[in-house]
Amino acid sequence: MDLSNVSVEELKAQIDEQKLPRHIAIIMDGNGRWAKQKGKPRVFGHTNGVTSVREVTEGAAEIGIEYLTLYAFSTENWNRPAMEVEALMVLLVQTLGKEVATLNKNNIRLQAIGDLSRLPTRTRKALLKGIDDTKNNTRMTLVLALNYSAKWEILEATRLIADQVKRGEFNSNDITDEIFSNSLSTAGMPDPELLIRTSGETRLSNFLLWQLAYAEFYFTPVFWPDYRKKHFLQSIIDYQQRERRFGKISEQLK
Ligand code: IPE
Ligand code: IPE
Ligand code: MG
Repeated sequence: MDLSNVSVEELKAQIDEQKLPRHIAIIMDGNGRWAKQKGKPRVFGHTNGVTSVREVTEGAAEIGIEYLTLYAFSTENWNRPAMEVEALMVLLVQTLGKEVATLNKNNIRLQAIGDLSRLPTRTRKALLKGIDDTKNNTRMTLVLALNYSAKWEILEATRLIADQVKRGEFNSNDITDEIFSNSLSTAGMPDPELLIRTSGETRLSNFLLWQLAYAEFYFTPVFWPDYRKKHFLQSIIDYQQRERRFGKISEQLK
């Protein structure tokens, strides 16, 4: 889709405010390939990806999205070359240091999901400070998935619930969808209605398996560092043209 002749304002005008997703989740992918295409080291792609994070966050807040979850580092990403992992962790500290003021200015609250205990101390501290500094903001919640794995999260929830059953708080027969949802790290958040993945890959890579059960998937070949506010708005316009049937037939929805 060529977006060069259309403005951000024109795209915004095409968005139906009555049909906005409350929660959008994004797998930000393709930083390494973007850099390689330019003959640069992979880390150059990660650094440039920060601009896309800024634009998409701003765009989401402007149109009234309540929750934006960004997959920033998976549990599997520890298996990358040590130098790249280290660079990503440093970039996180630097970005948080710079951007928390902007989040506050825009009334955006920061949260995180994932096993934060395994993050390097400096990264974890910067993250917890960002979360604390923005905790009273109300316009939108930006959730960073860091050292996140959906299977890890589901197992953690299962352990939590098993312990509650063992203590006699309720019976296993009483475990509901709601109890399970509230035992996940996304407790209290609505499930994402829209999942976006950039860079042409069409897999979930261990992201939000439970929460995405009925989400609409949007895949784009655009590499993350090239993904801009216009692309994001286009993804939402595409989402709004879909019919979400939830098992029913089309005629029942009219
Ligand atoms: C996404 O881009 C960023 C992270 C996973 C941290 P990649 O680094 O996966 O880029 P590609 O997929 O190798 O191009
Ligand atoms: C998924 O991207 C994780 C993040 C975007 C943080 P990857 O690039 O690591 O996923 P795979 O390995 O290609 O599935
Ligand atoms: Mg990748």
